[in-house]
Amino acid sequence: MEIKLEGICKSFGANRVLTGVDLHVKSGEIHALMGENGAGKSTLMNILTGIHKADSGKIFIDGKEVIFKNNRDAELHGIAFIHQELNVWPNLSILENLFMMRTPKNKWGFIDYQKMTQLAEEKCKEIGITLPLKKLAGECSVGQQQMTEITKSLMLDAKVVIMDEPTAALTEREANRLFAVMKKLKARGVSVIYISHRMEEVFTNCDRITVMRDGRAIATSLTKDTDMETVVKNMVGRVLSEYYPERTNTPGEEFFKVENFSEPGVFQNISFSLRRGEILGVAGLMGAGRTEIMRAIFGIDHCKTGKIIYEGKEISIKKPLDAIKQGFGFITENRKSEGLILDFSIVQNIALPNGERLSKHYCINKKSEFTFCQKMSEKLGVKAEDIRLPAGTLSGGNQQKVVIAKWVGMNPKLLILDEPTRGIDIGAKRDIYDLMNTLTAQGVSIIMVSSELSEVLGMSDRIMVIHEGKLAGILEHKEATQEKIMTLATGGM
Ligand SMILES: Nc1ncnc2c1ncn2[C@@H]1O[C@H](COP(=O)(O)OP(=O)(O)OP(=O)(O)O)[C@@H](O)[C@H]1O
Ligand SMILES: [Mg+2]
Repeated sequence: MEIKLEGICKSFGANRVLTGVDLHVKSGEIHALMGENGAGKSTLMNILTGIHKADSGKIFIDGKEVIFKNNRDAELHGIAFIHQELNVWPNLSILENLFMMRTPKNKWGFIDYQKMTQLAEEKCKEIGITLPLKKLAGECSVGQQQMTEITKSLMLDAKVVIMDEPTAALTEREANRLFAVMKKLKARGVSVIYISHRMEEVFTNCDRITVMRDGRAIATSLTKDTDMETVVKNMVGRVLSEYYPERTNTPGEEFFKVENFSEPGVFQNISFSLRRGEILGVAGLMGAGRTEIMRAIFGIDHCKTGKIIYEGKEISIKKPLDAIKQGFGFITENRKSEGLILDFSIVQNIALPNGERLSKHYCINKKSEFTFCQKMSEKLGVKAEDIRLPAGTLSGGNQQKVVIAKWVGMNPKLLILDEPTRGIDIGAKRDIYDLMNTLTAQGVSIIMVSSELSEVLGMSDRIMVIHEGKLAGILEHKEATQEKIMTLATGGM
């Protein structure tokens, strides 16, 4: 199916988001859409799929003009949209999620679970993945939730599949499986619109690339006729030299220790220490237990045995508030359900863990709250029209920056970052790395869980590798290589 967008314009209130965007996606091609956070990629796709209405402009499918009334309408025309933010229902099983709105009924009118299971298993087999069909989606990893959404859209037998940063939550292995699926779709004549901030995967998997900047389509070219430097230049409007800043400070003395953390079936005997001003990278495959360990340290999840030694004394963390009181911050991997309250304003979100500092005699001082939040969002380059608007109106990457602003604002001693740059554009990523350097130079220590190996290698002083809930090894920065990490992460020696 061929798609043509012509002169699409869209404003939200006074905020002009898209200005005359043209996009042409040929049938059977994998077309990448790239651009900085807030460039308008998701909005353009929301318009194509009838979720938002364009102020002006036209949509043609196979040469015929169409107007979709809503998302369902677009689906019926064969366009599936896998959203940037996960849309699974946490209280339903994976199987029920897969058949949301289209549950097959048996001849007595009851939901036909047998048929559902059979269809789901067939589809999974076809794509080459396994999903815990009976498990509640809310109990599954972000990666599994993401694969569920992808599988769901493939079950629609769509002619066009839009993927808005599908690999942000996937491990390398899962991502490779997805690329194989994309190739299969392409062979069947299905078009894929692929939004991603990851340069390498775009260059290996996409046929053409359209770059957007500030609500305009800047350039479209065949992947083989362009290069990363040109794409980045088009995206950010300037040349980015080095990707990872140099680590300048030397970590100080050891001040934080985790001893023998164990939770049966989740992780075993995790012990490590942290020095002041150090960045400890945590690598491992999705599902290895990295997030679970961090959640236990922060008091979100239970941990059967284990001690935390802080400044030479054992401390007890039973709930997140205990951790916050010690000066620990936690940026979670799942910003939608844990990191942000989307209906709250940006100000309210940033102020949330900083209540004590911003209040006098238990009353929040509105003015200092606003000034403080403004300062923090400027520091992180949050692109918002007005910080009094709901956080849900921000683009995905800018939401992530608000989560970071929220925790950095409390002047933490220790920050746990779980996938801190997931879904963040190349320029803003660099800003976050610089910020990590500034923080560590001030003595803040950072534990950074990341599935992006280059990021772990580029930013960590030491790298801890987790394999199936066990500590597989800790590497010093100078001895660490991609191969060594992968070997440890997959259980090799
Ligand atoms: N529902 C909405 N209400 C108000 N403003 C919105 C809404 N949705 C998007 N915007 C604004 O539109 C602009 C473009 O956002 P969009 O989500 O399309 O960016 P994006 O290119 O997908 O970015 P990212 O890479 O961060 O996901 C942003 O400035 C955002 O704040
Ligand atoms: Mg987006």
